[in-house]
Amino acid sequence: MDYKKELLIPREVIAERIKELAEAIEEEYRGKELILIGILKGAVFFLTDLARELSLPIKLDFIRVASYGSGMEPGSISLTKDVELSVEGKPVLIVEDIVDTGQTLSYVKELLESKGAESVKVCVLIDKKERREKQINIDYCAFRVEKGFLVGYGLDYNEEGRCLPEIYVLKECK
Ligand code: IMP
Ligand code: MG
Repeated sequence: MDYKKELLIPREVIAERIKELAEAIEEEYRGKELILIGILKGAVFFLTDLARELSLPIKLDFIRVASYGSGMEPGSISLTKDVELSVEGKPVLIVEDIVDTGQTLSYVKELLESKGAESVKVCVLIDKKERREKQINIDYCAFRVEKGFLVGYGLDYNEEGRCLPEIYVLKECK
């Protein structure tokens, strides 16, 4: 199937929204050291831009999960890289590119809670509503969309489009 991409969110809009999120996050965690945990690989661009806007003491770590879906289809989840820092007794903010069915974030959130974090909150670039299966509380969200498959700024379609600096929606070519 052939797709063309249409610009959805330009880079200046992403940058502006990240500044707003950073202000709200600073407000919540002032006086604490925060552990940001990015979900590889999609969250890397969002995480590094967000981290540089935060005037807080921060530690970074990454987690990786494999989903045995392919292309645009979700699949079942397993852990392929765990966090390396101890999160016990620490406030943790999970940073993710997009929440779709909610399976990935529920899995990661439960895992970090089971390691004894003081709190585990969630910050996503995109909240995509249509295919939600697991109810998950999203504490910080940059953009909400109803549906569609997005690429760019970390989001990929079979590894393509990830490094684009803005966010696009894929449209099927007739
Ligand atoms: P969930 O477990 O269904 O919430 O899916 C989350 C994962 O699916 C994300 O981390 C992405 O890797 C992938 N995903 C879901 N929707 C999109 C999309 O529109 N573009 C790119 N990746 C997506
Ligand atoms: Mg991902």
